[in-house]
Amino acid sequence: MDEIRDDRRNFLNWLIGGGLVAFLGSVFYPVYKYVIPPPSGEANVSQVKLPFKLKELQEDEKKSRIFKFGRNVGIILLTPENELKAFNAVCTHLDCTVQYRKDLSIIWCACHNGRYDLEGRNISGPPPRPLTVYTVHVDNATGDIFVAEAKG
Ligand code: FES
Repeated sequence: MDEIRDDRRNFLNWLIGGGLVAFLGSVFYPVYKYVIPPPSGEANVSQVKLPFKLKELQEDEKKSRIFKFGRNVGIILLTPENELKAFNAVCTHLDCTVQYRKDLSIIWCACHNGRYDLEGRNISGPPPRPLTVYTVHVDNATGDIFVAEAKG
């Protein structure tokens, strides 16, 4: 008789213990997943080949495009002097994405009217620092555009 009672007690202890573990898991697992973000699939890169060719950029009415540079966003533009310029497109004020204003010959941030010249220098508005400049290389044979981090 005592043996049956011990078996029942063991079974109930196991059931309560298992239930407690399941309960704690269901509470803390979502918290853990929220606090620890999943690893990003994007890697840090130092050079990218743009998904469009020089001709497309030349024919683009805005004369500029936004592109992915690893985890960052870049902007490439064609100046009135037909020079290609590329920058990290993240505004140095509060991280909005900048755009090329061909009509004003500036790089402009719509969030707080931040302005940069075509060298990426902050010239008015709240941005505290210039944009990061990328180097641009065009393969003349294919029209492919390569953008890389500037060295030094
Ligand atoms: S985020 Fe660009 S000016 Fe504020």
